Amino acid sequence: MLTRTYMTPESNKKLVAYTPMLHSRLMTETTKFRDNHFRPLCKSLDTKPPFPLSAERSDLHLDGNPSIDRPLFVQFCANDPQVLLDAAEYVAPFCDAVDLNLGCPQGIAKKGAYGSFLQENQELIYRLINILHLNLAVPVTAKIRILENKERTLEYAKRVLSAGASVLTVHGRVREAKGHKTGLADWSYIRYLRENLPKETVIFANGNVLVRGDIGKCLQATGADAVMSAEGNLYDPAVFAEPPAVGEEGTFYWRAKDGRGGFRMDDAMRRYMDILYKYVLKKPAPVRRPLYIPGQAAVEALTETTTEDNGEPPRKRVKIDTYTAEPAPAATTNGTLKNQEKKQEKKKKFERTSNPNLVAMQAHCFHMLRALVNKHHNVRDALARSRAGDIEAYEEVLRLVESVCEGGMREYEATGGESWEREVEEMERKNGVVKTDNANGEAEVETFETTLTKEGDLEDGKLTTEPVSEVSQPNEAYETSVQAVRECRRPWWVMQPYIRPLPLEAVLKGSLTLSKKEMANLSPEEREKAAAMGAYKNMDIGTQPQGVSKKEAKRLRKEEAKAAAKAKNGKVEGAFGKENVKEGETGEKEAVAQQPAVNVTVEKKVEEKVESTIKVSAPETAA
Ligand SMILES: Cc1cc2nc3c(=O)[nH]c(=O)nc-3n(C[C@H](O)[C@H](O)[C@H](O)COP(=O)(O)O)c2cc1C
Repeated sequence: MLTRTYMTPESNKKLVAYTPMLHSRLMTETTKFRDNHFRPLCKSLDTKPPFPLSAERSDLHLDGNPSIDRPLFVQFCANDPQVLLDAAEYVAPFCDAVDLNLGCPQGIAKKGAYGSFLQENQELIYRLINILHLNLAVPVTAKIRILENKERTLEYAKRVLSAGASVLTVHGRVREAKGHKTGLADWSYIRYLRENLPKETVIFANGNVLVRGDIGKCLQATGADAVMSAEGNLYDPAVFAEPPAVGEEGTFYWRAKDGRGGFRMDDAMRRYMDILYKYVLKKPAPVRRPLYIPGQAAVEALTETTTEDNGEPPRKRVKIDTYTAEPAPAATTNGTLKNQEKKQEKKKKFERTSNPNLVAMQAHCFHMLRALVNKHHNVRDALARSRAGDIEAYEEVLRLVESVCEGGMREYEATGGESWEREVEEMERKNGVVKTDNANGEAEVETFETTLTKEGDLEDGKLTTEPVSEVSQPNEAYETSVQAVRECRRPWWVMQPYIRPLPLEAVLKGSLTLSKKEMANLSPEEREKAAAMGAYKNMDIGTQPQGVSKKEAKRLRKEEAKAAAKAKNGKVEGAFGKENVKEGETGEKEAVAQQPAVNVTVEKKVEEKVESTIKVSAPETAA
């Protein structure tokens, strides 16, 4: 719903949202599960709803509500056709299609035998899709991962389509490509499917779409009808939106001096909170002061009390330093008052909520605010402390976010952009990316691929022998995320994607260690790449550069492992990463509850094709 706020009414029709993957068996078993994961009506879904719903329903709630949450595909994981059909019948009146997830690679899917772990059972896949195709009142679609080669992937796609799938979403990664080993999606597989499947096949391409510019690139490279973005959309919910024209940025968009820009985090978090007030808490949002517009003169005092229009007594706002967003020191004359406050705070029992919309807030905010909380640790800590349902704690985080964003934008203006340039230099230095000026005075970037093994000799300030690089090929010969990071990087007050290091970079950084078997499985090309990227620190691949003994390499490996473990322990993300997996009522773990919706935008051949697919492919019984 947040993503939809950035779309125009027209472009919104082309934006398909997917629900998180729902466990089909649990969906059929308990009302409680349905209440927590799919709430189309104000009351519980005790029994299967009629299809179609009567036109004038006054009890429509959030999920699949035609006025706020469509088009919507509801996604299930399943391994029993009849159970899948039962589950799908609960949701059919509230969605445009039911999707079968054949791509989930998680351990929980392996244990439960669903998602990508059905790949080996093509006959079951056929039956799962076909039962929906023959019996469900809305179309069935499927999301697959690519297999080990193009031919096998094509066979797989043909089977899925022959079973009756109306849309084929293809994630261009194999099942093993997950976590640190995620790597890049291979769009050439999707292009191969496009060229070898009937023209009318509707294909959604998934993978590598992190910024708006990737949408066009992906459509062109794959020939797909639409692209799906998951992580890109999580980190930047405005990824599908058209940026405003110059001069029309308002308070929601920010543009740098070079014209590059992004959607502002302070505005995004307000929108997010406002959606929750309106649809979940069902009370008006607090009246807030207008957001800062670059160039604006004075900052309004933040100490004034707010006018609440929700009937509650006005609250006093905490005075905040505009730039650092640190709360001002408490106005105490002695230490006892502070202690009392602490005690009271401890006493204050907070009632936790199980409302999934509120439970998901922390993870959503950490994604959206990633760049900001990396810099402003007080905001990170305030967010980490915010308990599900404690909306005032989130309001406080919002105030901090607004304040640091304003401070950052003001400093950018005051320094003519230099404050940000200094930050970039610092980041690149930390990441081992060194910026130098070449002979023409142009900025050049060296990455670790060209780390020098031997410095050149200097005599009277002149280079007499050339430095020796451990890599003979130019940087571009090696795929790294460095360039992508640089292209996508924006100041921390605007939303931006998180770009994972590629697997070999992760090896280099020490966050991924390859097993002996994995090392043996590397192709000669990959081994060469790994060596060139300095992976000798983590891998004994017999190509250590001069000057690094085996013993030294081992010591480095140990040091890096220690540092990585230390860094990992200090990470806040770990605190919510686990929340994606929770115990289901039956004791079986499910990996579905808090996974955010994944959006697809239908950019080409647009909605007519999807709409017609949806209508045309609906089984005859649906009419
Ligand atoms: C937090 C998170 C939750 C996801 N949940 C689902 C899901 O419920 N169903 C699904 O088919 N894929 C899910 N995925 C996988 C994405 O749909 C997608 O296939 C994958 O992330 C690659 O696309 P991307 O590069 O756009 O992120 C999830 C991914 C992430 C990061």
